[in-house]
Amino acid sequence: MPNRIFSIFPQSSPSELVQSQFGDQQVAKSVFLDTLQRPLGDLRISVTDRCNFRCVYCMPREVFGPNYPYLPHRAFLTFEEIARLAKLLVAHGVTKIRLTGGEPLLRKNLEKLVGMLRQLKTPVGSPIDLTLTTNGALLAQKAQQLKDAGLNRVTVSLDALDDTIFKRMNDADFSVAHVLNGLEVAHKVGLGPIKVNMVVKAGVNREQIIPMARHFKNSPFILRFIEYMDVGSTNGWTMNEVISSQAVIDHINQSDHTMQLVPVEANYSGETAQRWKYVDGGGEIGVISSVTHAFCHECTRLRLSTEGQLFTCLFANHGHNMRELLRSNTDDESISAALAHIWKMRSDRYSELRGQQTGPKNKVEMSYIGG
Ligand code: GTP
Ligand code: 5AD
Ligand code: SF4
Ligand code: SF4
Repeated sequence: MPNRIFSIFPQSSPSELVQSQFGDQQVAKSVFLDTLQRPLGDLRISVTDRCNFRCVYCMPREVFGPNYPYLPHRAFLTFEEIARLAKLLVAHGVTKIRLTGGEPLLRKNLEKLVGMLRQLKTPVGSPIDLTLTTNGALLAQKAQQLKDAGLNRVTVSLDALDDTIFKRMNDADFSVAHVLNGLEVAHKVGLGPIKVNMVVKAGVNREQIIPMARHFKNSPFILRFIEYMDVGSTNGWTMNEVISSQAVIDHINQSDHTMQLVPVEANYSGETAQRWKYVDGGGEIGVISSVTHAFCHECTRLRLSTEGQLFTCLFANHGHNMRELLRSNTDDESISAALAHIWKMRSDRYSELRGQQTGPKNKVEMSYIGG
């Protein structure tokens, strides 16, 4: 059977520019469409598989204990290797890069990588959107140097306002006040718009939905509620522990008359969050419904692990070894062709198929692949 991509763009080459069917980015893109016609748009780079939290939904302490076989440092891609791959991918449609982990702020000299990625330009000469997801523990200390190096914005995870519940979610010894201070500092140095991500897990932090919503209403921070996902193979996920986005919205709407929400248009197609705003002008919140309303049909994300494996889905169980190529004297053109091939062959849509079939076994962990 002829490859669908080539039958649509018979003479396509990586350097050719076309207008993306996802016209939101308003820039011409190279013809990197996967088998479901999704363009490549975002690159998420995991810079370490370590974390100073042990969130129960991501790195449960029973599994990620002192003897967990983390990657040896020699296996990490260097900043030069990361930047080389990123440059090739930006040439082919990536307009947004997110640094993740594990906890990315644990990677030494991260600002150096930020500075290198800041130099990248899209094929039409625009700078990329450069952002980072963090648990906030080291944010106050690092915000200014990240900003100075060229980071645009940060997204901060925060699952509760109450210290006891916060600890029940992340199984670590940091206070909520510490993370809130990180948020303030990041805001002051201009790393915005800042989003705050709250994973909601039934039986653990449901009662924090309203306090969190109230706290971030009328603030510069956009709170987003995330459905607990079956990512990785260690968190013991069951559907019973998922609180749907709809239930979160209903809960807020019913809490009192000052908390009424109406839906807002997406900022761009493929946005993970559905946006809502307070009727009284108190700002915006978001819900991320990857369990109850999968968004695979618009998924433009590619993930690079700390050791240089490329994954075309958050729920994949195998990646493509780029480190081997990077360390084997392969020239840019050949690496570029390999990247094109990986994206063009992509057919993942795990969240849309969830429950309809037996999913992949031994899915990679989110701490390894990046959130
Ligand atoms: P913005 O650029 O600010 O719109 O961020 P984003 O929503 O793309 O990224 P963020 O890292 O804030 O994503 C929020 C959460 O959505 C993640 O922590 C994951 O829980 C979930 N998520 C992100 N990407 C994917 C994805 O590709 N698939 C699924 N199933 N969930 C995702
Ligand atoms: N379900 C939903 N989101 C998760 N994250 C990590 N594990 C899960 C999970 N099982 C997301 C959270 C966290 C980010 C780093 O990764 O949003 O804030
Ligand atoms: Fe660390 Fe983030 Fe995973 Fe929590 S969700 S354990 S903060 S990487
Ligand atoms: Fe993309 Fe896979 Fe998430 Fe679907 S499940 S949105 S294909 S990363």
